[in-house]
Amino acid sequence: MSRFRSPVAKVLIVASLALFVVLWGAMIWTAFEHDAVPLTTLDPQGPFSTMIDDLVAPVFIIGGMVFVGVLGAVMYFVLRYREKGDDDLELPKQTHGHTAAEVAWTIAPGIVLAVVAFLTVGVILDLSAEEEGALRVEVYGAQWWWGYNYDITGDRSFDSDGDISTANELVIPVGRPVELRITSMDVIHSFWIPALNGKADAVPGMHRDWKIQADAPGVYRGQCTEFCGLSHANMRMLVRAIPADEFDEWVARQQQPAADPPADNELAVAGQEQFVNLCASCHLVDGLNNEQIAQLHEDDEFPLVAGVAPDLTHFRSRGTFAGGIYNLTYPNPAGDDSPFGATCTLEDLENCGDPTDIGLAGNPDNPLYRPFIEDWLRNPPAMKPMAAEEGRGMPNLNLTQEQIDQLVAYLDTLR
Ligand code: CUA
Repeated sequence: MSRFRSPVAKVLIVASLALFVVLWGAMIWTAFEHDAVPLTTLDPQGPFSTMIDDLVAPVFIIGGMVFVGVLGAVMYFVLRYREKGDDDLELPKQTHGHTAAEVAWTIAPGIVLAVVAFLTVGVILDLSAEEEGALRVEVYGAQWWWGYNYDITGDRSFDSDGDISTANELVIPVGRPVELRITSMDVIHSFWIPALNGKADAVPGMHRDWKIQADAPGVYRGQCTEFCGLSHANMRMLVRAIPADEFDEWVARQQQPAADPPADNELAVAGQEQFVNLCASCHLVDGLNNEQIAQLHEDDEFPLVAGVAPDLTHFRSRGTFAGGIYNLTYPNPAGDDSPFGATCTLEDLENCGDPTDIGLAGNPDNPLYRPFIEDWLRNPPAMKPMAAEEGRGMPNLNLTQEQIDQLVAYLDTLR
């Protein structure tokens, strides 16, 4: 270092090196500081994501050793053989054709890659093995939401009597493997619940087998990770993992067709009629508008048909809507991580959490939070960019406040 001409240059070089080391360290630190970032692969919550996470440390250490070794050697040669002013500029002794060196630097990276491949292929095989006693769910992406068809009966079909369909929120039993068959209704999407497994592409006309499992009850957030158009960033999903006995109760409720609203709930009865007239061309409510949907399917002229929009049969059993981006209910009791701990009441809103915080998923057992769903019915494209005129997303139906009140009252009965 003693031969740099100016002391200022020396200071600048040392300072920029120090800055580089600090920034680089901060970047790595942030990546591992996962409390602030919900979508991280570095905080696994189930066996499959743990397998992937177990690969991170060894591969990172190997990569780090290569990085330090190569950069260290470059630095050494730069400093050791730099031009020193008084040297004559003859070329140093050349090593071209040095067989031993060339064999060595070919074999060494080969060994490094072989070790990484050995570790990785083992995990890939483990991740694609079939799981005994797994729950099977067909997952499909659509612009811009997720649908789920459960094989409850275990006959390897997803539409037998007793099988169920839902959207955006995937409810699973804790501690049981769930095998997913992932596909798409339109363009390529990608299904990703980072706490439970890596990413899997949803490709139209194909099925991708995938699996997830959660070790503890809770909400695990996800995000579509393949650019799929206008509202790609608003195509979220979440997994609610609940204890096995609660899951059985949930399934039993989901297997029921939607009940008519009680006759004394006049708002909801009027809302049901509005639903049949306004919403039923796209949204299915099992037991209410199946026949209309079937007719619309036969009418090719009709621009939108069921299947282009989420099944709303048990809408109110979800805590979020519109691709998991808005809370439908108040989220969680304050300070309670479990979505299935104590629920909050309208009289005691302090324990309900902040319903405008979309980082907290709404708890379906909590009271309805009206502002988002009302705004949504008033003007959906203002709440989430969509292209309804092209059959993608929900149009603005120019509803009156009376119609909105009626529809919200009806949706609130779909438990
Ligand atoms: Cu679906 Cu991005």
